[in-house]
Amino acid sequence: MANGSALMNTYGERRLTVTRGEGAWVWDSAGNRYLDALAGIAVCGLGHAHAAVTHAIAEQAAALVHCSNLYNIPAQQELATMLCGISGMDKVFFGNSGAEANEAAIKIARLHGHARGIEVPTIVVMEHAFHGRTLATLSATGNRKVQAGFEPLVRGFVRAPFDDLEAVATIAGNNPNIAAVLVEPIQGEGGVRVPDPQYLAGLRALCDRHGWLLMLDEIQTGSGRTGSFFHYQQHGLLPDVATLAKGLGNGMPIGACLARGAAAELLGPGKHGSTFGGNPVACAAGLATLRVLEGENLYARAHQLGTRLRSEFRSAMAGCASVRDIRGSGLMIGIELDRPCAELVQHALDRGLLINVTADSVIRLLPPLILGDAEAELLVATLAPLIRAF
Ligand SMILES: Cc1ncc(COP(=O)(O)O)c(C=O)c1O
Repeated sequence: MANGSALMNTYGERRLTVTRGEGAWVWDSAGNRYLDALAGIAVCGLGHAHAAVTHAIAEQAAALVHCSNLYNIPAQQELATMLCGISGMDKVFFGNSGAEANEAAIKIARLHGHARGIEVPTIVVMEHAFHGRTLATLSATGNRKVQAGFEPLVRGFVRAPFDDLEAVATIAGNNPNIAAVLVEPIQGEGGVRVPDPQYLAGLRALCDRHGWLLMLDEIQTGSGRTGSFFHYQQHGLLPDVATLAKGLGNGMPIGACLARGAAAELLGPGKHGSTFGGNPVACAAGLATLRVLEGENLYARAHQLGTRLRSEFRSAMAGCASVRDIRGSGLMIGIELDRPCAELVQHALDRGLLINVTADSVIRLLPPLILGDAEAELLVATLAPLIRAF
């Protein structure tokens, strides 16, 4: 065993062993406590060990852990109905992860293209995008590091710069095979890149003009993180397809592909499926999560706290020449430095704080939506001096 472990070495060295979590805090195996400003990379929006989710999982597990999708699963029906009610979408397919949700979206785009007589249906995807690590989703991803070594990539994608409507319009003029656009409303792994406020509406208009599906990857932005359940709800439009995962089950693996109108009818019997997708326990967790998000209006909390955190970081970092930008939406926050800063993750860990660095030089904060005011203050008070000292 080259690295002393029986695990394939896909995650590099892992220095922390988390054994327990509560709210915005986790504890390691030595009993040290850490403020979790990542929430499992935008997963535990309600914080760790939320009582309602824990109860729903335990109750469902005691009744029935698994049921094949050959039979009705009431929690799955109920979760789909609730998601459609919240989002304005019509139908849902459940998988177990973000990549699976995007695979379903890609299959819908191809069916849409074929239905329109396009032989090689092609999806417009963006530079710096991240859509997952299955073969189709890594082919859609705009990061060579994610793709390298896995060639041949899946065909049927054409790439445009992010936040560039002209580029997509040019593709429309040159390529008769386009069936859909797949885009993150705010790029997460790509560096918390927030596009122009008119970008999504512009893409919606282009898709309408050309008969393409607008497919929004809301796996990171969704589940309330940016101040509304889906980010697109702040832009007064509806996509044809939206994908969701991460925060939907507050830690239970679940992914969802939502579709609207004709796009919602394309996956018929035998066209797609999953053994575990939409299983009773994951759906029970999803229902409990949605009820808390809605009941406590955590969207408003995410918006208000995110605005405050960005403003406090701006004040705390004033005059610090290495900080290029502080941006984001709700509790999806990026602090861009003028140099690679991966070491800051360890510096923060040493001071009891979990953060992430993405796109080499962007500190990414994705704290739980239940973060308290005092915890938010502690986050700024701990991280700002580390950035200054770096
Ligand atoms: C925007 C986006 N899409 C897709 C994925 C892939 O999700 P998963 O890791 O659950 O397959 C991620 C994960 O980071 C993501 O941020």
